[in-house]
Amino acid sequence: MAFSVVVLAAGKGTRMKSDLPKVLHKVGGVPMVQRIINTVKSLGADDIHLVYGHGGEQLQATIKEDNLNWCLQADQLGTGHAVQQAAPHIKDQEDVLILVGDAPLIREETLSALKAVKASCDLALLTVELDDPTGMGRIVRENDNITAIVEHKDATDAQREIKEINTGMMMMSGADLKRWLGNLSNDNAQGEYYLTDVIAMAAAEGKRIQSAQPESPVEVEGVNNRLQLSNLERALQRRQANELMMNGVTLLDPARFDLRGTLHTGNDVVIDVNVIVEGNVTLGDNVTIGANCILRNCHIADNAVIEANSIIEEAQVGEACNVGPYARLRPGAVMHKQAKVGNFVEMKKTVLGEGAKANHLTYLGDAEVGPNANIGAGTITCNYDGVNKSQTRIGENAFIGSNSSLVAPVVIGDGATVGAGSVITTEVEDKALAVARGKQRNIANWPRPTKK
Ligand code: UD1
Ligand code: MG
Repeated sequence: MAFSVVVLAAGKGTRMKSDLPKVLHKVGGVPMVQRIINTVKSLGADDIHLVYGHGGEQLQATIKEDNLNWCLQADQLGTGHAVQQAAPHIKDQEDVLILVGDAPLIREETLSALKAVKASCDLALLTVELDDPTGMGRIVRENDNITAIVEHKDATDAQREIKEINTGMMMMSGADLKRWLGNLSNDNAQGEYYLTDVIAMAAAEGKRIQSAQPESPVEVEGVNNRLQLSNLERALQRRQANELMMNGVTLLDPARFDLRGTLHTGNDVVIDVNVIVEGNVTLGDNVTIGANCILRNCHIADNAVIEANSIIEEAQVGEACNVGPYARLRPGAVMHKQAKVGNFVEMKKTVLGEGAKANHLTYLGDAEVGPNANIGAGTITCNYDGVNKSQTRIGENAFIGSNSSLVAPVVIGDGATVGAGSVITTEVEDKALAVARGKQRNIANWPRPTKK
């Protein structure tokens, strides 16, 4: 059955003490509201209505979604009033799933369960039992039907004993919702239009109101301050780490692993502590990632070893390559099979051919390095003259002596050799030796200066 989703996200989030609207704060590297949108998209929602209020410009600049219906709630007069802003866009025949924008860990499976409950009754509520339900709307039941939600501030002492609470997530038909919304009043302790009042209206019409529960309460926990944000961040990281381990990844310490995006892994991947993975990352079979690495939007092929403290961003590492420790691969770095990049080597927009090596203290920018070339310690491609970037081409089997500067644009031929300490400014032909440095002069018995 067709269904649409209303996400309530107009609240200001005062307790975040932030210039950013609350729902744009990130969990697992993704703005909370984006995470919810992603979840309902994979659930197959036909339309998504986002009720927003504060920080509309920032929201619209960040959340780039086609088919998202933006509903402005200029004044926040309550959750019922918020849903009223979306009501004109809701069809009678469809079901409507109402969610809150600040509970980002809700899982697709849980919403599917809520949908399944709705399919066999008139109104489905997602509820949870809390040890301390203070502040929450309480679920009132009679026999096997839910009959009301009573807000904490409006509840009697007896009702406050109820531990089952409203998560704010619910589903009903569009026609019912719109009829009930039209009858809301703000005659209550907070002077607000409560969405929760529709439950008693439904019960009065003799509707069947049933509930579903999440697997864990963190799924429905809202964020009001940065402490709660950090708790949800940890919960999400643990959930993701568990999934990876169940998929066959070894995490040497799941509490010291952070995934802010999507990670695809082959078999027998091993990840040491304090690794941060961001964006879209793929690791092939038998890849090993050392401690303290940062991997961002990169692809690392089978049997590659990334040693500790390396940073790899928008780069590709080929099969059985060796990277680091302390290497930095910047956007556009590509390593072909069995290439090696060692400590304090930086690469940008550079292709390193199969089996080529740059083992120490080197900068390779805007360069193409042929197969099996050897780049000595301290080699630098001088790719920038202060205005323009230029290319360096180093041929197959070339040997660049230590501490050479290759002033681009320049070509070093196949099998060519560059003497250590050279400053190369013009082409070196295939198989030639280029030496471009001051000649050594020895002065015998040279008297050192003495202190006056
Ligand atoms: C609400 C529920 C309560 C439930 C609790 C769960 C009502 C009346 N109460 O209470 O039963 O236990 O959530 O967290 O619904 N919002 C708007 N516009 C508004 C008011 C709120 O968009 O005018 C949004 C907020 O941004 C937030 C959500 O609705 O995402 C919930 O609002 P909040 O003020 O937190 O409601 P509670 O008082 O906590
Ligand atoms: Mg709340």
